[in-house]
Amino acid sequence: MFARVLLVYLLCSTFFNLISCECRQTYATVCDSFEDLKKYDDVENMKTLIIGAEHSSVPPTSVNLIADLDYTFYYKLSTLVIIRSVNELKSHVSWTCDYESPLKYLTLYRNKLKVIGKNQLPRHSLKFLSLVNNEIESVKPDAFYDQVEEIDLSENLLEVIQRHSLPSDSKSVSVRNNKLVHIEADALPKGLTNLNLAGNELRYIPYEVLKDLKNLTELALNHNKFSSLPPIKHLEHLVVFDISFNSVSTLERGTFEKMDNLQLIDLSNNKIHQYDVLQVLNTPGKQPYLKVSLALNNLKELQLKNLSLQHQTFVLYGNPWDCKVWPEIKKNLSRHESNCNVELPSNEDLPFCISYIADGGLSTWETKIEKFVATFQEIVANRPKNFHCRRHLGRYGWLYRISYTCSATKV
Ligand SMILES: *[C@@H]1O[C@H](CO)[C@@H](O)[C@H](O)[C@H]1NC(C)=O
Ligand SMILES: *[C@@H]1O[C@H](CO)[C@@H](O)[C@H](O)[C@H]1NC(C)=O
Ligand SMILES: *[C@@H]1O[C@H](CO)[C@@H](O)[C@H](O)[C@H]1NC(C)=O
Repeated sequence: MFARVLLVYLLCSTFFNLISCECRQTYATVCDSFEDLKKYDDVENMKTLIIGAEHSSVPPTSVNLIADLDYTFYYKLSTLVIIRSVNELKSHVSWTCDYESPLKYLTLYRNKLKVIGKNQLPRHSLKFLSLVNNEIESVKPDAFYDQVEEIDLSENLLEVIQRHSLPSDSKSVSVRNNKLVHIEADALPKGLTNLNLAGNELRYIPYEVLKDLKNLTELALNHNKFSSLPPIKHLEHLVVFDISFNSVSTLERGTFEKMDNLQLIDLSNNKIHQYDVLQVLNTPGKQPYLKVSLALNNLKELQLKNLSLQHQTFVLYGNPWDCKVWPEIKKNLSRHESNCNVELPSNEDLPFCISYIADGGLSTWETKIEKFVATFQEIVANRPKNFHCRRHLGRYGWLYRISYTCSATKV
């Protein structure tokens, strides 16, 4: 008997590097594995349950979440977090009727799920589902409960969003930092207000994908491979549109003209060179306050004639402005510039315009310009050492507060 106790103790403390193999009741019920949970008795009072740990050495196992966490027993459990404990989700075969359960928040983090299929995740009254960083490669149709309000599938390996693979009633969908190249028509929930697809490999989004998303207020497509804007003209309720860090070179006239609630258009870090870009953007005059970032593009000149700048500010640093016109642009834009533009020229370490003065033949001049611009962009791109322009997106219910703050300190 003593030997067995000792053996168990040794197993726990050496293999699993733990003081005890039992679940602990602290701010939540914390268990090292599903095995430990089976030995834990006080399940009726559990409200928050955490299984596993980020640096756990317990090997992940195959789990039937619906059977192992039978909600007729865990009837106070509202938050469940499973970390690095699952290498396969088993499908629950005998599907019983849906009954009320308080489980609202389900998080799986750093498990190896690969595929999510039907009847693998608890359904019931789930509202928030976070599946960040689980090596998910595909999601089968009807894998999720339709009433999930917010779903986060970021940091996985998804290449396609298939039809019927997302909860149909979701308001917020995040699929950041996956490998998305394609989204099927009608794959996105029609009532979406927030869609974040940043950090993927998207080159375009067909109109059929976006056509019904009439209630969309925030769309983030930054860090993808777009060379032009996707068809968003009809998304009249957009408040925030971010397509920074792409390769957008030209813009289609009138894209934003019906978006009366717009507060941010982030076009920074692209390849825009149209000198009449502000006329092309033709933003509506009705929005409360609009910030447009054109930072870090290829603009040399800017046409400001016949433009209403009321209630708008612009972020313009990091473009290879022609030094001949930059002072006039600055003058005409006074009170419509972000802090970042004001700070930048006052920092001697960073260039803010280029003197395009011809010398010699025209053919050598063209290549010289390219070199100037390349050098300029290299210097500006390496700026983080002494210059930061940081975007703040504050949300207070339906009110947004968008601002830019700057710091430009000498190294
Ligand atoms: C869009 O929002 C309105 C107002 O909140 C709502 O009545 C409507 O059902 C929503 N549309 C969809 C498709 O959810
Ligand atoms: C600045 O404003 C003046 C007067 O409205 C205008 O003539 C000029 O073209 C503007 N400059 C630029 C660069 O748009
Ligand atoms: C300025 O804009 C108004 C209204 O859009 C237009 O009627 C007018 O012709 C424009 N003027 C110039 C000089 O482009």
